[in-house]
Amino acid sequence: MEYLKITGETKLDGVVEISGAKNAALPLIASTILAKNEISICNMPDVVDINTLLKLIAKLGGSYEKCDDCIKINTSKLDKTTATYDIVKTMRASILVLGPILSRFGHCEVSLPGGCAIGQRPVDLHLKALEAMGAEIIINHGYIEASAPNGLKGAKIVFDKVTVGGTENTVMAAALADGITTIINAAKEPEVVQLCEVIKNAGVLIEGIGTSTLIIHGTNRKLLDFKDFHVIPDRIEAGTYMCAAAISNSKLKIDKVIPQHLEAIIAKLEEMNFEVIQDKTSVTIMPTDEIKPVNIVTTEYPGFPTDMQAQFMALATQANGTSTIDERLFENRFMHVSELLRLGADIHLNGNIATINGTQNELNGTDVMATDLRASSALVLSALVAHGDTSIHRIYHLDRGYEDLEGKLSKIGAKVARYKE
Ligand code: EPZ
Repeated sequence: MEYLKITGETKLDGVVEISGAKNAALPLIASTILAKNEISICNMPDVVDINTLLKLIAKLGGSYEKCDDCIKINTSKLDKTTATYDIVKTMRASILVLGPILSRFGHCEVSLPGGCAIGQRPVDLHLKALEAMGAEIIINHGYIEASAPNGLKGAKIVFDKVTVGGTENTVMAAALADGITTIINAAKEPEVVQLCEVIKNAGVLIEGIGTSTLIIHGTNRKLLDFKDFHVIPDRIEAGTYMCAAAISNSKLKIDKVIPQHLEAIIAKLEEMNFEVIQDKTSVTIMPTDEIKPVNIVTTEYPGFPTDMQAQFMALATQANGTSTIDERLFENRFMHVSELLRLGADIHLNGNIATINGTQNELNGTDVMATDLRASSALVLSALVAHGDTSIHRIYHLDRGYEDLEGKLSKIGAKVARYKE
């Protein structure tokens, strides 16, 4: 395994370029299962999760070819319908192949993804939606076995909870269904919006894109004619670098973003007394003379994103006063707290509410352990401002969702290097 060593008390400077969004690219790669033609997808992030899903597409009989930040994908020869445990256990978003495979082939077997560090992460809402569309689903030896031999039928689906993956799976299943599917209480994340737009451009009439009610007019198993496209920028990677600038009190330009996707993050940084200058495709964070405390409640888009919760907790350790974070989406998304405490932070947990007392305890570098993707990015941010060196172990978590992290950080002035244990 590898670890990152970061020397603290460093200022950042210059421009960081944001990559394509992992959480947009994953469902978009899965959606190519619905295509009759080869597609070129550009601005694709080079991160482990993307490579894992591409391997799954290849295992199913599809093919892909990388060229710079573009990937040509062809699923016309796809002839297998089983997503095995060995792949799904390493990347739970593999569940996103369930809807498209079932809709195209009439049956699909996907290993249950199981939980992860941040929570149990059930997929019951995905399965309930597919059953409403006529699928027969049984759980057999840890596998979801879904069948709809005569194809899926359009249906009215009301999600009890807003689910990003559940909405994406259902949209992809509905695209080839016979008839109209209405999804009520759909997720509105930018990644869901891009998936709908790409499928619409491929020939499926979809109404209500960007709203919580989606109406999908299925093609009755006629494969789609995809147009080439670029993945939208990663708003969570962008938010993470915004927090890197804030925590080190540096001026930093974050380029190749869509500022509108960052509104909730910008609002919280402004509440903490940072000035954020917006341009058409960039945001610039300015240093402040006092970091003010903040109160955060995580919620679905366009509210404050749960994927930025850990990063803001690290930032709140530097605020002049007491901040609170209420994590409402996942039941166990405070794994970073114990590691932040080891760095000297003053944080108290009461259920899903964290109270962070800033400034009293300066952070001091030490060895810490990454537990999940966003928790590990919070440790990187803390290491930038801690006294001395911090070694972050198990950084395979980071590699899942941040492209060339140490390269991008070094380019803007951080002292960071990767070592083998
Ligand atoms: C997506 O996960 C993201 N992953 C997550 O980002 C993100 O945190 C999450 O959405 C919320 O925004 C990808 O897009 C690949 P959900 P997803 O279904 O789709 C419950 C990262 O760091 N739920 O919207 O799995 C669930 O337990 C990752 O990049 C059910 O109860 O999230 C959670 O409490 C982490 N039953 C809530 O809904 C279901 O069938 C939201 O989950 C599905 C979900």
